[in-house]
Amino acid sequence: MQPRPSPHHKTVLILGAAGRLGLCLVQAFSKAGWQVLAQARKPLAQEIASLPGVKLLHCDALDRSALIRGGQGAQVLINALNPPYTEWAQKLLPLAEVAQDTALALDALLMLPGNVYNFGQQLPELLREQGRTPEQANTPKAALRIEQEARMAAAAPRLRSVVLRAGDFFGGPGRGSWFDLSLASQLHKGKVLHPGPMNVAHAWAYLPDLAECFVRLAERHAEFKGHTRLHFSGHTLQGQQLHQALENVWGQPLKASTLPWGLIRLGAPFVPSWRAIAEMRYLWQRPHRLDEQELRQWIGEPPHTPLLQAVQESLLALGLQAPTTDAKKEALA
Ligand SMILES: NC(=O)c1ccc[n+]([C@@H]2O[C@H](COP(=O)([O-])OP(=O)(O)OC[C@H]3O[C@@H](n4cnc5c(N)ncnc54)[C@H](OP(=O)(O)O)[C@@H]3O)[C@@H](O)[C@H]2O)c1
Repeated sequence: MQPRPSPHHKTVLILGAAGRLGLCLVQAFSKAGWQVLAQARKPLAQEIASLPGVKLLHCDALDRSALIRGGQGAQVLINALNPPYTEWAQKLLPLAEVAQDTALALDALLMLPGNVYNFGQQLPELLREQGRTPEQANTPKAALRIEQEARMAAAAPRLRSVVLRAGDFFGGPGRGSWFDLSLASQLHKGKVLHPGPMNVAHAWAYLPDLAECFVRLAERHAEFKGHTRLHFSGHTLQGQQLHQALENVWGQPLKASTLPWGLIRLGAPFVPSWRAIAEMRYLWQRPHRLDEQELRQWIGEPPHTPLLQAVQESLLALGLQAPTTDAKKEALA
């Protein structure tokens, strides 16, 4: 293992720093003593902007010259951008192209948080690293992500890049994940809204753990050559395991209800965001987990917050507090 560079030589440029993963990356890199150049189109919340070493790079993520100017000195660039689902087809690849050009101009290692879309609708149960599980471009989002990563690979060896693939995000200060929009959205009514059957394994990534993995890989940026694809296992959970964890943390039995997929399907032709959600249903019907053997070769034992602690911290971050005894009786009546 290489000696760590001195703190003054550790600079990361994070694109999408105000996003779900972006916020956790800013926190984790700052804590690890890095200088953090945080790209966002709006000011960061005060508690993030005032962390040690954090500097806001206030510009559009398509503004190549502003990124190259503002990112000077970065050894690592993380593309944590994510256009809304309804804009993926128009914006994902142009944003990725600018990120790639910027990494090349800065001679920085380009890192991308990958997802499991690449494996398509019939994804197998075990998803292996370094291209050992075949990709299937049989959904529009799979095709886009396959293309995005293929362009990164094709730019090697001039471009050095790492994809760190993970399951659905939960935890951290951001909003808008399946965890808060579905599962935890009805807790105040004593219910868990499950997007899938209770006995199907689903890959989740607790964001503070995933962000810590990015830091540990970034510490070894100079050792990466060409294009590398790694996986972060995170928490693989059946619906019933997550349900049990939510009950334990909430301190009361919770009813299990199901996301109204029939309604979502009916509305899909008219509501673009519902259409985008309906396209993702297969991920709740097909059991899957991510194999992380190669990641372990790079960073040793990956960070893994125990499930109950991760769920408790996630609910707290969402401002969700277990109800008082009276409210519990009412919810259960
Ligand atoms: N969410 C998951 O469960 C999950 C799981 C695995 C992998 N991933 C991957 O992780 C990455 C980050 O996901 P996330 O959920 O953390 O993202 P996010 O919170 O949805 O969005 C991240 C940022 O993207 C920026 N953005 C959106 N549209 C933009 C546009 N048109 N132009 C410029 N910037 C734009 C926004 O920045 P501004 O603040 O400037 O508006 C936003 O804060 C994505 O590649 C995603 O596929 C996500």
